[in-house]
Amino acid sequence: MSLTVNEIRSKFLSYMKEKGHAVVPSASLVPENDPTTLFTGSGMQPMLPYLLGQPHPLGKRIADSQKSFRSQDIEEVGDNRHTTFFEMLGNWSFGDYFKEEEITWMWTFLIDELGLEPQHFYVTCFAGNELLGVPRDTFSAELWQKLFAQRGIEAKISETPEAGMREGEKIFYYSEKKNWWSRSGVPANMPEGEPGGPDSEMFYDFDPDLSKKIHETSAWAHEACHVNCDCGRFLEIGNNVFMQYKKTASGFEELPQMNVDHGSGLERYAAALRNDSDIFNIDVFDEPKEIIENLCDKKYGHEETVTYAMRVVLDHIRSATFLIGDGVMPGNKDQMYFVRRLIRRAVRFARNLGITANFTKSVAAAFIDTYKEEYKNLEEKREVILSEMDKEESKFRKTLENGIKEFEKLATGNINGQDAFNLLQSFGFPIELTEELAKEKGLTVDSAEFERLKEEHAEQSRTASAGKFKGGLGGDSEMEVKYHTATHLLHEALREVLGQSVQQKGSNITPERLRFDFAYGEKLTDEQKKQVEDIINDVIAQDLPVTREEVSYEEARARGAIGLFDDKYTDKVSIYTVGKETGKRGEANLFSLEFCGGPHVEHTGVLGHFKIAKEEAVSAGVRRIKAVLE
Ligand code: ALA
Repeated sequence: MSLTVNEIRSKFLSYMKEKGHAVVPSASLVPENDPTTLFTGSGMQPMLPYLLGQPHPLGKRIADSQKSFRSQDIEEVGDNRHTTFFEMLGNWSFGDYFKEEEITWMWTFLIDELGLEPQHFYVTCFAGNELLGVPRDTFSAELWQKLFAQRGIEAKISETPEAGMREGEKIFYYSEKKNWWSRSGVPANMPEGEPGGPDSEMFYDFDPDLSKKIHETSAWAHEACHVNCDCGRFLEIGNNVFMQYKKTASGFEELPQMNVDHGSGLERYAAALRNDSDIFNIDVFDEPKEIIENLCDKKYGHEETVTYAMRVVLDHIRSATFLIGDGVMPGNKDQMYFVRRLIRRAVRFARNLGITANFTKSVAAAFIDTYKEEYKNLEEKREVILSEMDKEESKFRKTLENGIKEFEKLATGNINGQDAFNLLQSFGFPIELTEELAKEKGLTVDSAEFERLKEEHAEQSRTASAGKFKGGLGGDSEMEVKYHTATHLLHEALREVLGQSVQQKGSNITPERLRFDFAYGEKLTDEQKKQVEDIINDVIAQDLPVTREEVSYEEARARGAIGLFDDKYTDKVSIYTVGKETGKRGEANLFSLEFCGGPHVEHTGVLGHFKIAKEEAVSAGVRRIKAVLE
């Protein structure tokens, strides 16, 4: 029997206590004094003031297991490793110990205490960058090498293994793109005064047969596999950040206090110890999974679509349980919108499993039982959690059933855009649900027409209600407006970096991300993605005005407006400029000019920080970018 999640958590915390750390409870999933972010997404977030030098009341050594929620991952859930909720094991030195202690303790804890197989363990270190004035982290690399040697393993140190890893190589140097950590990401994105530093990441490789299969059945099969390959073979289990620098106007200077910020995925430790790459097989999911299996009389792991749906249900109900436990009720705004979305998605995916009666509260109850020792608030709030969950489920079920009845009436042939749009308007059916229902009947949905109608409607609502529009599950959202403007910036930036042949093929916006499909034949390089991000963040930093004009179609064309345009309405068209002046596309004071119904923000400065979360192929010659505003 491998160790349970509860056992691993308490082993880590006792180990750190032994090393002089004060163990503190997890902070809430809702950050207390941080208006810049909706949720706590890493263990470091609540520690930021202390990393910047404010003394922690409990001393210079702190450890915890922090509940974290990443809303940007909602749609990624379904594979073997993404979850929206997770616990991050962490320890911090606020100007106390540094690399030597941190790395040695990590090794001792993972290899000696937990019994992780050292042959399956890999690490990366910072390669150094002269321009940044930050040297190569040979100290960490050589220390890891010494620790491997103590276990009789001759671990070779290598440069970035882009062409593949060679026998015996265990320690790799990577540039700041991978082995640098700060709250804002890579050095170029850090504001002046922010702390950050090189890091050393730790990876687990599953047994050779399993690893081979993971890579070969992934979308990366044609590339050489290495520790940072996205195929899922190497599981990053933790990260040691040596926060020793502060960004200045000209580069970096050493902080007066050298910090350590370590964060590891508790559940990833559990998966590595089981030597099973499926995170949903760790013990915390056992009871909730059994309940779902019994309800639908299907087994997890037997059939891909069943497994996928069960993962979504498990993940979403667990996250909703913890969020309600931290006081966030389902609703239409801010954090509440996500709880609503999680529950509704869980209900939808359960429907794919054949579960059509209320069930979320029974799964939530199993999660409360699993976690109640560590998270006492869950037991205290049991009644609220279960009743809120049930109430939201009933509400959604009613809409869902009515919508399905309506859908059945429409489904005498392929679904046109207007019908799909009516399902959204009247029953809150997102396009994905309509598509799912249509697929079951072998029908198609005109989603391009749907998107057009949605945009048109958004424009009308904008005029009617000062910048707000309804969409998705009834959540009108400032975020969606921001993403809409960010989409224009992305379109223009892509053309600057990849050439003017880049053409929009589709776009989709939710309150958490934008999705943009465009014609282009190749995978984007890291360098290109970074250029695109930098261009956009620069436009945001310039706080350029966004201006709407109504002009004739001929004029818009003459001024070089780009974007999807439906020539049904050739009378007057609406165009949006991002730039100090309106005019022709390509002129110096104009960044972007597009055909568009809106709505948009008034100034780019409100958008926050733009980041590409994913870049992938959708079909031959069409790429898809998902991006977030942070
Ligand atoms: N703060 C570091 C991270 O989240 C440990 O990766």
